[in-house]
This record gives sequence, structure tokens and C-alpha cells, in this order.
Amino acid sequence: MSTIPQIVRSVAEVRSTVGSARAAGATIGLVPTMGALHEGHLSLIRRARAETGFVVVSIFVNPAQFGPYEDLSRYPRPFDDDVRQCRASGVDLVFAPEPGTIYPPGFSSFVTVEGLSDRLEGVFRPGHFRGVATVVLKLFNIVAPDIAYFGQKDAQQSRVIQRMVGDLDLPVTVRVCPTVREPDGLAMSSRNVYLNPDERKRALSLSRSLRAAADAIAAGDRDANSVRQKMRAVLESAPVVVDYAELVDPATFEPITRITGTVLSVVAARVDATRLIDNLPIELPKGFVFSL
Ligand code: PAJ
Repeated sequence: MSTIPQIVRSVAEVRSTVGSARAAGATIGLVPTMGALHEGHLSLIRRARAETGFVVVSIFVNPAQFGPYEDLSRYPRPFDDDVRQCRASGVDLVFAPEPGTIYPPGFSSFVTVEGLSDRLEGVFRPGHFRGVATVVLKLFNIVAPDIAYFGQKDAQQSRVIQRMVGDLDLPVTVRVCPTVREPDGLAMSSRNVYLNPDERKRALSLSRSLRAAADAIAAGDRDANSVRQKMRAVLESAPVVVDYAELVDPATFEPITRITGTVLSVVAARVDATRLIDNLPIELPKGFVFSL
């Protein structure tokens, strides 16, 4: 008897297993991850479980999206625990390829989503979104999901994927699911395990800065620069080192100047050696219709 979830490492095994499920009439859901699963990942898996008949989770720490001085080698890889969590969540198939399976010798084709990939995260992590888009396109081609699930936590990444899917006519629906937070507001992240107790306290300044932006806008501030300064004040008093604290257009990620509709407040900061990101969509309070 085969165990569930089935754990496979080769492209051929994914294709034949998913092919059988599809032939039996199931829709296919894909949740791409780098493992070290937490409630954020599990929320995507649960959504996939509810909406599709056959749920695939990929676990692959993708070297192409890490810069030369980033945390590729120390990124957590608690594989057995991840598989246990997949089992408990009713995942049908775990795809956990070796790097050489995804990037065999001579690999030289990459996907670049221009413009969007060059802003914010792209400035501080050059080549990051090229690595993300490339691996996600490969996963889409290998698994051929009907629906793929991504988190709002990585808002710019989700937008890059949506852009790629639209631009390249990929036959997949992209679902972006809400950010899951710790009770005190810290966005869940596989990188939170790096934080010592003091850093964990200071890391809270990211979500607090987003809350400060939402509060300022709710109180009537419409000047993006003034809101940005309020965000920075929260971060700098933690203290953490700010890479960016911005209000951007949620579709293009271009900075805005006047707040006239829904904005995305985004933040990236370093808590000592650990770099964290967070974001919050902020809508204008309803009922603010000016009439002459
Ligand atoms: P990873 O960081 O493991 O995240 C996998 C998915 O989980 C992403 O879509 C991410 O946005 C989502 N996620 C992470 N934390 C979350 C949270 N607190 N709430 C909701 N969703 C959350 O993102 C990646 O891996 C990789 O870049 C990947 C897409 C797998 C490509 O390598």
C-alpha cells in the first residue's frame, strides 16, 4: 500500500501521479514552498484542499532566488516534520526535487518579469524574482496545476507570478491568500526561527509600522511622505535597519505620492542578521465621498 502523501523526487513521477489523478477527474492544486512549513503555508494548503481534488506541495529551497551572501546554506530544512504536517493537512503528493533535478548541468533558461521585479525587493535582492519566476514556471510545467496558491505575505512575489501567468498565457489560476500572523502581529515566516528573544521583540516593529501607516491614513493623512515618515519612526525606534518602508500602488509597486485609493504599505528591514518583509493593503475609510 502506498503512503499518503506520496513523496516523489523526479519530474517523471510527478507527471505520472498527477496524470492519473487528473484522468480520474480531479482538479489539481499546487502550493509551492521552500519547506520549514508554518501556519502561513498550512493556510494555503487548507485552501487548496478545500478547492481542488488533488493537492501537490512542492518543497524546494531554490538556489536561483538566493543572492551570493544570503542564507541559502543555513535556510531551515526540517523535511520529516514538513512531511508530517503535509500528512496532517491531507496533502496528496509532496514533490521534493534535488537541485540537480531542477537545474541540471547546462541549465541556461530564465524568466524575467521586467519592471515589477526591479523595484523594492528587486533593488535589495537583485536576481531574486528571476529565480522565483523561473522555478515557479518550471513547477507549473511539471505539475500542470489548475489552481496555484501563494501568500499575500510575499505580495511582490505574488504580483510577479500573476504578471508572468498573464503575460505568458499560462493555463493556471493564481490564488493569493491572506497573511497569517502570530497573535502579537508578527507575520509568520520560516526565517523567524533565526530570531533570538531580543530580536523577536524588535521584529514586531515591522507589523507595527504597517499599523501606524493604516492608523495615519484612517485619521485622514493623505500625504504618502508623511505616512512613510511615521512608518520609519516606528522601525528606527525598535531599532531595526530599514531597507524600505513605502506606500505603493498594489498593482505596479510604484511609489505613490497622494493617497486617493487602496494602497499597499510595504516594509523590509534587517533585525541584526535576519532580513524580514511584511505588507498591509490599506483601503480608504468608506464614506469619504466629497461632494460639492
Ligand atoms: P516560502 O517562503 O516557503 O513560501 C511559500 C508560500 O507561502 C508563498 O506563497 C508565501 O507567500 C506563503 N507564505 C509564507 N508566509 C506566509 C504567511 N505568514 N501567511 C500567508 N502565506 C505565507 O515563497 C517562497 O517560499 C518561494 O519564493 C517559492 C514561491 C516557493 C519559489 O521558490
